[in-house]
Amino acid sequence: MAAEAKQSSYDGSHVENFEFYLQCSGEHESILHFLMKHLPEEFERIGADKSGLAVLGVGSGGGEVDVQMLSLMQSTLSALPITADIVEGSTELVAKFKGLVTKTDHLQKIPFTWHTMLSEEYMQKTKGRGDVKTFDFIHMIQMLYYVDDLTETIKFYHSLLNKNGRLMIIIESANSGWDTLWRTFSKELCNEILPVYRSSSDVLASLKSLGLKYEEHFIPNTFDITECFDPNSKTGQHLISFMTGRENFYQSFTPRVRADILNVLRSKCSTEKEGKVSFNSEMRCVFVYA
Ligand SMILES: C[S@@+](CC[C@H](N)C(=O)[O-])C[C@H]1O[C@@H](n2cnc3c(N)ncnc32)[C@H](O)[C@@H]1O
Repeated sequence: MAAEAKQSSYDGSHVENFEFYLQCSGEHESILHFLMKHLPEEFERIGADKSGLAVLGVGSGGGEVDVQMLSLMQSTLSALPITADIVEGSTELVAKFKGLVTKTDHLQKIPFTWHTMLSEEYMQKTKGRGDVKTFDFIHMIQMLYYVDDLTETIKFYHSLLNKNGRLMIIIESANSGWDTLWRTFSKELCNEILPVYRSSSDVLASLKSLGLKYEEHFIPNTFDITECFDPNSKTGQHLISFMTGRENFYQSFTPRVRADILNVLRSKCSTEKEGKVSFNSEMRCVFVYA
C-alpha cells in the first residue's frame, strides 16, 4: 500500500484556532503595514526590463496577505501581466483563498495555478522535471516552521528565482516572545508537527551556510495576552491554547508546567504596563537576492 501523503496540520479546528489567533494578534495588519511600505520599491526593481511577472506563494494559507500583495503588484506595475502559483498544504485554506480571489474583481486578470500539496511534495515533483517553471517573486510567510528540511527548502526555492528575482521570508524574530516560549519549553511543546521550533536565527544560519545574499527588516508586533492569565476567560484560554499548540491549555499540562509557562509568558515574553500584558511577537522579513 502506498504511504499516505503527509497532510498540513491546518485543517478543521486548527484552521478555526489560527483564524481566532489572527483576529487577536493583529499579525496580518502588521505584516501588511510593512509590506505596503517596502514592496512597491521591490516590485519596481524586480519588474524592470521584464515583460511579465511570475509569483509563487508557499504556505499561503487563506490568501489574505497574498491578495493584498498581488493587488499591490498590479497597481505598481500595471502594464505587466502577472501569474500566480500557490503551494499550500491545507485543502480548507486553499478553498478559502479561492473564495477570496473570486470575490476580488481585479484579480480575475491573474491566472492562478493551485498546487494543493505540501512544499516537500512540490519540491519532489518539480526536481525531476526538465521544464521547471521559474519565478520573479517567491514568498514564504510564517510557514518555514513546518518544512522538513529548512536549508534544503530555501536552497530549492532560491534555485527557482529568475534574474533580479526575490525570495521573501517572514518568520518570528529570534528572541521574540514565540521564540522564548517555544525554546524554553521545547520538551513540553514540540511534537510531531513541530519537532523543533524555528525563528529568524535559523533562517539566517541557513542563508549563510548557502552563501546567499540577503537583507533583513524588522516587523514590530505586540498583542494583548492579559486574559490568558484568567482561567475563566474563554478568549484567554482559546488564545493560550493556540500559542502552546494545544486544543486545551488547561487540560494538556500538569499544574506545575502550566504555572511555569504562565510565568515565562508574563516575565520573559511580554512587557506589562498598568495591568496589561503585551506579548512580543516581532517578526523579521528577509529579502533573499537571486
Ligand atoms: C501560520 S500559517 C501561515 C499562513 C499564511 N502565510 C499567513 O501568513 O496567513 C502556515 C501555513 O503553512 C501551511 N503549511 C504547513 N506546512 C506546510 C508545508 N510543508 N508545505 C506547504 N504549506 C505548509 C499551512 O497549511 C498554513 O497555511
